[in-house]
Amino acid sequence: MIKVLIVDDIPETRDHLARLLSMEQEIDVAGGAGSGEEAIRMAMELRPDVIVMDINMPGMDGVAAAEIISQRLPTSPIVMMSVHGEAEQLKRSLSAGAREFLVKPFSADEFATTIRNLHQRELVRREQLAATLPAGPAVDSGTGEDNGEHQVLAVFSPKGGAGRTTIATNLALALHRETGGRVALIDANLQFGDVGVLLNLNPKNRSMLDAVGGEPDADIINSVVVDHSTGIRVLLAPPSPEGADLVTPAYLRKMVDHLRSTHNYVVVDLPSALNDHSLAVMDAADQIVVLTALEITTIKNVRLFLEVADQLEYDRTKIRLVVNRSDASQGIRIGDVEASIRRSIDGTIVSDGRLAVLAVNRGVPFVVSHPEGALSRDVTKLARTLAGDAVAADGKANKRGLFARR
Ligand SMILES: Nc1ncnc2c1ncn2[C@@H]1O[C@H](COP(=O)(O)OP(=O)(O)OP(=O)(O)O)[C@@H](O)[C@H]1O
Ligand SMILES: [Mg+2]
Repeated sequence: MIKVLIVDDIPETRDHLARLLSMEQEIDVAGGAGSGEEAIRMAMELRPDVIVMDINMPGMDGVAAAEIISQRLPTSPIVMMSVHGEAEQLKRSLSAGAREFLVKPFSADEFATTIRNLHQRELVRREQLAATLPAGPAVDSGTGEDNGEHQVLAVFSPKGGAGRTTIATNLALALHRETGGRVALIDANLQFGDVGVLLNLNPKNRSMLDAVGGEPDADIINSVVVDHSTGIRVLLAPPSPEGADLVTPAYLRKMVDHLRSTHNYVVVDLPSALNDHSLAVMDAADQIVVLTALEITTIKNVRLFLEVADQLEYDRTKIRLVVNRSDASQGIRIGDVEASIRRSIDGTIVSDGRLAVLAVNRGVPFVVSHPEGALSRDVTKLARTLAGDAVAADGKANKRGLFARR
């Protein structure tokens, strides 16, 4: 069945076009969109085999929509429709990525044949493309040896600025060094992701946004993950806030699951909000590192989060409580936190503003630049706690991975 999306601002025209195709056994009109914007949204949702698009529409016209769709959804070829005499616009639409065009008025037969042929050409193109791609995702999993573990570690805090990005990034590097395993880091702060800044990577070059639109398969996801010089692999958040809307919770979950299957540890930097995206990742997580500060409002929010986690029936051992800036208290002690939330703390991380800021400014995380600093040692200890058995008792694993080349 060839799934078709029809885009035209006039409802009667959409109905008419659908009727022209109604006699075709193997063509299914899966939807109709009335504007360029709606076309993009519906195309992402339906992933049609062929999109039929009118050039002239108020607002975002067919050419602009074709340009965006052909980039995001290269597997959904576009047929452009125009009335006679719009040669200039047709040229523009072809260079915008449309693959075929029809001049109105056209017969039912002409319409169906164009769709069938374009679909056939797309299938051939995909086959040829697949033949040129290297086989199997495992060839491209950063450095490290598979140690048999496959864990997702989500780093969360119910309050912004608690240190999630700092800890998640350094934790990923420490896990790679301590276990010698394959490690991926995902920036799930879809609107304002900071991981790129800490690792000196530019999301404009490559980010999860480049995967959206294609089938969420191994090849596509692998192609948007960046190999960092330290040996970990990084999936960056979209380069600007408007890109966030295009990454659905289900898609984010698929990326997490895929990276888990090809890495020993997947560390996810979560936003401070409890929303569909963060919950999709938390559901998938084996461990949730919840960061708190020695500060009343954060502690209150952590307590509320723990109540939610109970309602979600998360196993209590899945949640790991870590106090960040544990020595920078205004009179609140660790014991007070434990009493207030009726749980014990799993780890502490000292405050070192000088080192934390230096690392951000240089784009080199502190576990790499200052492995012996107290801050790095605390993160390393946390990595060991979370990795559990995967850290060899004799410390052999330490010799591999990140620092092996130093
Ligand atoms: N242990 C620490 N000692 C000193 N400074 C720290 C520590 N942890 C984090 N910081 C600093 O606190 C600030 C906020 O940290 P970070 O950006 O990691 O938090 P976040 O929870 O990711 O924030 P956001 O809500 O903006 O995503 C940064 O300037 C960071 O360098
Ligand atoms: Mg952050």
